[in-house]
Amino acid sequence: MNVLLGVGGGIAAYKAAELARALMEGGARVQVVMTAGAQEFVQPLTFAALTGRKVITDLFSSASGDATLSSAIEHIGAAQQNDVLVVAPATADLLAKFANGLADDFLTTTYLAFTGPVILAPAMNTNMWLHQATQENMKRLRARGHRVVEPDEGHLACGMTGPGRLASPDVIASAVLAEGNRRYDLEGETILVTAGPTHEPLDPVRFLTNRSSGKMGYAIAEAARERGARVILVSGPVHIPAPRDVTLVPVRTANEMRTAVLDRLAEATIIVKSAAVADFYVSSPPNQKIKKTAARLSLELDPTPDILSELGRKKEDRLLIGFAAETENLDREARRKLEAKNCDMIVGNLVGGDTGFDSDENEVVLALRTGETLIVARASKRVIADRIFDEALRLRLALYARQ
Ligand code: PMT
Repeated sequence: MNVLLGVGGGIAAYKAAELARALMEGGARVQVVMTAGAQEFVQPLTFAALTGRKVITDLFSSASGDATLSSAIEHIGAAQQNDVLVVAPATADLLAKFANGLADDFLTTTYLAFTGPVILAPAMNTNMWLHQATQENMKRLRARGHRVVEPDEGHLACGMTGPGRLASPDVIASAVLAEGNRRYDLEGETILVTAGPTHEPLDPVRFLTNRSSGKMGYAIAEAARERGARVILVSGPVHIPAPRDVTLVPVRTANEMRTAVLDRLAEATIIVKSAAVADFYVSSPPNQKIKKTAARLSLELDPTPDILSELGRKKEDRLLIGFAAETENLDREARRKLEAKNCDMIVGNLVGGDTGFDSDENEVVLALRTGETLIVARASKRVIADRIFDEALRLRLALYARQ
């Protein structure tokens, strides 16, 4: 992988040397571009020695050292020859220039000519970072699809404490290497994901629900989109932002979720049902708030529609992946649900401990239609999401081969 590393003029410029080294250790070829400001903090020779390549320092100096190559167009070559552009530290000035398309040096002109993934690692004084102008620029850059490695909080060189410190070079390097190794193996798929809890009204102000935060389902939607799929995310009420570039269909109740899922079923090639749908509801909740008139209150609950079972009957050749949240007998329950609901895979997770509901991590078993049961060790929900898709694609091949 070829990485173009843009170094901005900030006190954290020296950390870009560690980043260059981490990228090379990860197998990348690194070409460094330094702004004039960056050269006030670190000598280009440092990067040249680390990368073994001449550092590009301005628009009119050639990195190739070839006098016949017009350095004035070299930024186009740099843009074409590299797979990822990472800018660290990305100063407030650079972010403003990128956001507004200003191109007055090698790095800013290359940014405009570059069509691949861009990763920005901002670093600056806390007030500069929090300033409305910088935050508006960040919003525009994020909306362009650029990946931002958020600055850390801590004690800054200017004496202030707060967000603005360059993220660790290892963290930035992982983001860059992950971007370079990104797979597009879900291109052409439309993936219907359900996420979050449902709210089942008891009266106009109260409802039945559960502890689902939506994190698992949103990680699945994000992984699918990043691997090239079109994603329809049917989500119960949650407090986390939807991943960008997915079609979000917000719903509240199990019945609304059923309608939304069936409405979009024809478009889907893979369905992942990670939502924690309420199993019971009050079919005719009163129009007025229930008064506290009795010492005890009994609720009459009806079962909600079992959406996964209905999908199992209607799925045809779509891949259907359900979830099972269990407090015991995980493998057995996962396999029982796989058979009972005609799924191709059940993701079983033990809940009640510190994984599953509301945590950033999960630990699951994958019960597959082929009869295999795979154990996936504790990892972030995003890593689990990728593993689910790895196994789903493998499973589909195995199922085709059987036909
Ligand atoms: O949202 P998070 O905080 O990240 O938590 C993630 C999670 C724990 C909610 C998730 O990993 C999970 O386990 N989701 C399924 C929870 C659940 O409802 O499990 P279940 O065993 O009760 O249901 C089995 C399957 O049937 C699920 O795919 C569920 O979506 C589906 N179902 C359940 C009831 C119903 N009426 N209709 C359904 O389709």
